[in-house]
Amino acid sequence: MRPIGILGFGAYAPSRVMTNEDWSAYVDTSDEWITSRTGIKTRRIAAPEETTADMAEQAALAALADAGVAPAEIDELIVATDTPEVYTPDTAAFLQHRLGLEEIPAYDLGGSGCAGFVLALDLARSRITTENGTVLVIGVELISKLMDWSDRSTCVLFGDGAGAAVVGAREGAAEILACVAGTDGSRTDILQREAGGTKKPFSRELAESGEFLKVDFNGREVFKEAVRRMSTSARRVLEKAGRELSDVDLVIPHQANQRIIQAVGKALKLEAGKVFSNVERFGNTGSASVPLALVEARECGSLHSGDLVLMTAFGAGFHWASALIRF
Ligand code: ACO
Repeated sequence: MRPIGILGFGAYAPSRVMTNEDWSAYVDTSDEWITSRTGIKTRRIAAPEETTADMAEQAALAALADAGVAPAEIDELIVATDTPEVYTPDTAAFLQHRLGLEEIPAYDLGGSGCAGFVLALDLARSRITTENGTVLVIGVELISKLMDWSDRSTCVLFGDGAGAAVVGAREGAAEILACVAGTDGSRTDILQREAGGTKKPFSRELAESGEFLKVDFNGREVFKEAVRRMSTSARRVLEKAGRELSDVDLVIPHQANQRIIQAVGKALKLEAGKVFSNVERFGNTGSASVPLALVEARECGSLHSGDLVLMTAFGAGFHWASALIRF
């Protein structure tokens, strides 16, 4: 069988750049606080008229062009997002139509937060193993329209973005050697948005209090779990593929916070140059962060043909996933 891998990838980020100083106009914060705690300097913010499907479409078109694959050749679409176009139907339905895809299975992977794209990649790989074909995977978040702009403990962390990959079986593709994923649902309260679900349906009170935008979030606990889960799943995926950490050329971790990225590198005993980071310029773009970083790694010359690349991500749930890819 031909190797299953990434045939092409692309990303999109809105043009508006918001700096840490810009945030000072909305909340009591400073460039010094945000930079020292997170490493984030700027993030992109979608235009008022821009939606999740708009951003996802741009990333998908870039990935299709990069892969040399026409929309009609796509056999399945998976969209990882926690900030969908509308509540129902899912964002994938909008994209099936807009991208001119055939009447294929198209669905969202929602709620897995920042782990969504790597989880979707794993899913795509196993679907191709059983069903053949070519799968378009998108990770997209338009967080700025769904967050509380007056909550300084969360708003400064995020940014908008989209990334996509075309996954298929082709000689010479960037082969996906192994994937691992896991969930620990015992700690859902540490990172969750309750409002709007059946447990806490939308109500006039929620709307008036602004509580419908509230994210329950314990940053310190998330920090510790993120480091633990990403470094452990990175080791597991290497073990599964029969490779060593010393074989890895580049690690692309979820871009939540520069201190988390550094701590993952330290836990894996990797030299700093092997752990890619662009969180300084994009903030945390949720499920878009790994494909956005992948595109940037290629653009800045950190990703070379033949490289062994380890992607690792962690998000609400908690969910985590890692993938090992030979580019
Ligand atoms: N500007 C200024 N002060 C702030 C801000 C802000 N934007 N936000 C919080 N503070 C204040 C707090 O109110 C608190 O003040 P107090 O001591 O008077 O009560 C003080 O700063 C310290 O707050 P902490 O939350 O203890 O700060 P901490 O050092 O833990 O850093 C951070 C917070 C950056 C969120 C950190 O916990 C973190 O990196 N967490 C993990 C990343 C993360 O959770 N990302 C969210 C998405 S989840 C994911 O991607 C997996």
